[in-house]
This record gives sequence, C-alpha cells and structure tokens, in this order.
Amino acid sequence: MQDLTPHNLTAEQIATYLREPERTRITVEQCVTSTNTLLKEQASAGASEGTLLVALSQTAGRGRLGRTFHSPEGTGLYFSLLLRPTCEPEEALMLTVAIATAATETIHALTGYLPGIKWVNDLYLNNRKLAGILTEASPSPETGGLAYAVVGIGINIEEPVGGFPTEIADIAGALYPNKKAPAELRAQLVAGILNRFYEYYDHLADREYLDYYRAHSCLIGRDILVTNLATDTDGRPAKAIAIDEDCHLIVEYEDGRREALQSGDVRLRMR
Ligand code: BTN
Repeated sequence: MQDLTPHNLTAEQIATYLREPERTRITVEQCVTSTNTLLKEQASAGASEGTLLVALSQTAGRGRLGRTFHSPEGTGLYFSLLLRPTCEPEEALMLTVAIATAATETIHALTGYLPGIKWVNDLYLNNRKLAGILTEASPSPETGGLAYAVVGIGINIEEPVGGFPTEIADIAGALYPNKKAPAELRAQLVAGILNRFYEYYDHLADREYLDYYRAHSCLIGRDILVTNLATDTDGRPAKAIAIDEDCHLIVEYEDGRREALQSGDVRLRMR
C-alpha cells in the first residue's frame, strides 16, 4: 500500500534512489514522537540492521545533551537508521562523523549549498544551524561491543511558516529559507546520504571520511567557548586547533594549555 504524505514522500520513492535498495527497510511516517526513540524500541525488540524510519515531523525530537530538536510539520526531514556495527563502543563517535560527512557531501551535490561541519554533530549554512545528528549506541554485555546504534539526522529544508520559535530564531536556518525545495529533494537526500554513508560504514575503521570532515570544519582556526559539561562551567575561551585521528577536537586555552575534547559543547566566539 502506498504511504502518501503531503510531500508524496514514500518508501518506494526513496528506494528508487538507493544504490543497494535491498539493504534498507524503509518506513515513512507523517508524524512520530522521535524517530530515534522509536527505532531504539525496535532495536530492543530485535529489528535488523538497515531498518530506516523517516518522518516529516516529530513531537518529541531530541538532540545531544538532552536538548530538544524542533521538528515542525512540512518543512523538515527527520530520519534514523538502525545499525548493528561490529566496532568497539569508542568507535560509535565515528558513525556520527561518517554521517555528518555523507550529509554534507550529499547536500552539496544535490543543492549546490555547501554546509560547514561544526564538531561534532551539527551542519551550518550561512552561520545558522541547518542540521543536527544524534547517535545513540547501546553496549552489548555479551560481546563487549555494541548491541546496536541508532543514527538520527534532522535537516531543516525550508523555514517554517512564521519562522523558527523565538528560542532558536537566532541560531536555526534552512536550506531554502525563502522558497520551496524541489519536489524530489527529500527522497534524494535520504537516499543520497545513505548511499554515501554505507560506503564509509563498510570500512569505518579506515576513516575515509575524516579528511573531508576536517576540511569542511567550520571551527578549525576559530575562537570558541568550551563548556565543561562535568562542572557545567560556561564558556571557557579557547582556539580550535585541529581534529585528531579519533575525531577529538584539539583546543588551546588562553594560558597555552591544550586539550583533546572527546565530546561536549563548543560555541563560536563572535567578535
Ligand atoms: C542535535 O541537534 O544535538 C542533534 C539533533 C538530532 C535530531 C534528529 S531528527 C531525527 C532523529 N530523531 C530525534 O529525535 N533526533 C534525531
């Protein structure tokens, strides 16, 4: 049965753009709570790698660090992919890095707009947040590896009617702020991102995506503020120096001390 939405986005339509359609089982929903939350439930119930849940709105979209992800109807694209990787738990970060790279490349190829990657999981365009990624991994006590990982991405395609809510109005942006996106774009984006992501995922440890990720970082060389999540100390000034082989962000504080950040929150300092 065809699952027609206001965007006519269907599983069949997405599948036509997939290089290996047999690898992904696609469900498209008009509105869900959170594609990540629902897919984690499916993972716990035994769903297999390649299960993909796509939604056109979310009522409880989630971001990193317990934040919400505004996911209004009609203007965005939200999807999560279930993986059962054989990698070590520490490598889960590389899933975020690989999909951030795949999304940046795909958006550029399909629209001509080139986002910058804000370590570790956000894409920016014209100094506004265009997309966010949330990877949630569950360890396997039996193997010491991962039982599963859910990689979710939300992309603001158009600007919501009436604009973004006040709390994020200064931060959020969209691919097409002033016009409608091409009709096929949503299907092409989902499939294009998966096509590229799978190429990286099949050789995750090779880090083929890392050069592109670094080259398109919008933090390197910039003045930033580092929030220490353990102490919740806000905004320590630093400079973003580099991204190392494990995708840690090397920062240099004003006293010259360097630190490799594994996760956390950094913001650009506006001069
Ligand atoms: C962030 O901004 O910190 C990450 C946002 C991730 C949002 C996506 S939308 C699809 C998937 N479902 C969710 O609830 N979150 C992710």
